[in-house]
Amino acid sequence: MSSNSNTRFTIQPGGTLNGRVRVPGDKSISHRSIMLGSIAEGVTQVSGFLEGADSLATLRAFRDMAVDIEGPENGCVTIHGVGMHGLQKPKHALELGNSGTSMRLLTGLLAAQSFDTELCGDDSLSSRPMRRVTQPLSEMGGRISTEADGTAPLKISGGQKLTALDYEMPMASAQVKSCLMLAGLYAEGETRISEPGITRDHTERMLQGFGYDVRVAANRVSLNGGGKLVATTIDVPSDISSAAFFLVGGSIASNSELTLMHVGMNPTRVGVVKILQLMGADISILHEKIVGGEPVADLVVRSAKLRGITIPQELVPLAIDEFPALFVAAACAEGETVLTGAEELRVKESDRIQVMADGLQAIGVAAIPTEDGMIIKQSSIKGGCVLSHGDHRISMAFAMAALRSENEIVIEDCANVATSFPNFTTLCAELGLNIQVTSDEN
Ligand code: S3P
Repeated sequence: MSSNSNTRFTIQPGGTLNGRVRVPGDKSISHRSIMLGSIAEGVTQVSGFLEGADSLATLRAFRDMAVDIEGPENGCVTIHGVGMHGLQKPKHALELGNSGTSMRLLTGLLAAQSFDTELCGDDSLSSRPMRRVTQPLSEMGGRISTEADGTAPLKISGGQKLTALDYEMPMASAQVKSCLMLAGLYAEGETRISEPGITRDHTERMLQGFGYDVRVAANRVSLNGGGKLVATTIDVPSDISSAAFFLVGGSIASNSELTLMHVGMNPTRVGVVKILQLMGADISILHEKIVGGEPVADLVVRSAKLRGITIPQELVPLAIDEFPALFVAAACAEGETVLTGAEELRVKESDRIQVMADGLQAIGVAAIPTEDGMIIKQSSIKGGCVLSHGDHRISMAFAMAALRSENEIVIEDCANVATSFPNFTTLCAELGLNIQVTSDEN
């Protein structure tokens, strides 16, 4: 994954997707299992851990802070928790690669430690907004410096005494909410956070699983600082954000039937299923159960004739990572699909509104980017070359577009697929996609 080599996907047009797969573990839950397991008392066993570059960056960061972590081996990780005050100063800056979740959540946790730390990342991560966490943390008494434009590297000064905050988040962001909850564990008093839209609640659920008292009411969470976490067992479900590519692929390809096993169906994450169902997708939800505090199900998706819709606002934060895939579904849906209220897409691993619009246009799709969303008209996909801008979800979304393309689709800069879905191309090939991976130095 060196920055001067290019990994290219070349996908032959057409084909069907058939079979049963279990996509890798949930990225958000994997990050949190390492973070909370590390500051818990006792030994936490994790299974289903995502062995992707992002969650491994979090794992490495905690090893660098003297936490003894065994694995991952076949998704199993054993974390020897050091307790709330047991982390130690790392010898060097913590390198977090492409991972926004690592950086934003760690900033909250590290603002409360006794030692100084520095957090840095790759070019994409170093251009993403960090004031959304450093500003409220400074109101709690944290001391963090950013670059002049509010980006990483972040220099966090330890030894600050934090006080609780009552904070109304200006944007719907689980990373900001979770960052402040982690700082709140160490703050004096009750930290209260309210969000303008419902975002993923894995931190709340997992803290409760570690025995911490977290109060949740409508769009507000609160907790008191000064408690402790008790080690537990975590079974990480498959990532619905990774399953999403196959939900779209299985819907748009002809004669397809796919079973996606053990997919996390947390109500704060199921926007993609709801949006696809509104578009006419044929998705059955089977064997629903609760595993370690998180809902899980098997999903069966079959080919369907999709229709364009106006995406309901309340579903936007519940599908925030799935829009690259949903835009490809929209290109195959009768009529017009309209997305608004999704300006957050502009500050993801890439500007997902612009990069998706450019890529869709490059393969012949009528896509009009707007400030906070996109208008997509049903189009016949011609094929061609797409630039992913190193964004994993853009690469994987366009791989699915080939199922309905007239000619091959070539996608440049795909190495970062390994951040969230390391075996993506292998699974695609097993299910029937004719995908080739090549690398060259550039
Ligand atoms: C995540 C939250 C979301 C999401 C990201 C993972 C998390 O980001 O896009 O991939 O694990 O908390 P925001 O909180 O910025 O919306």
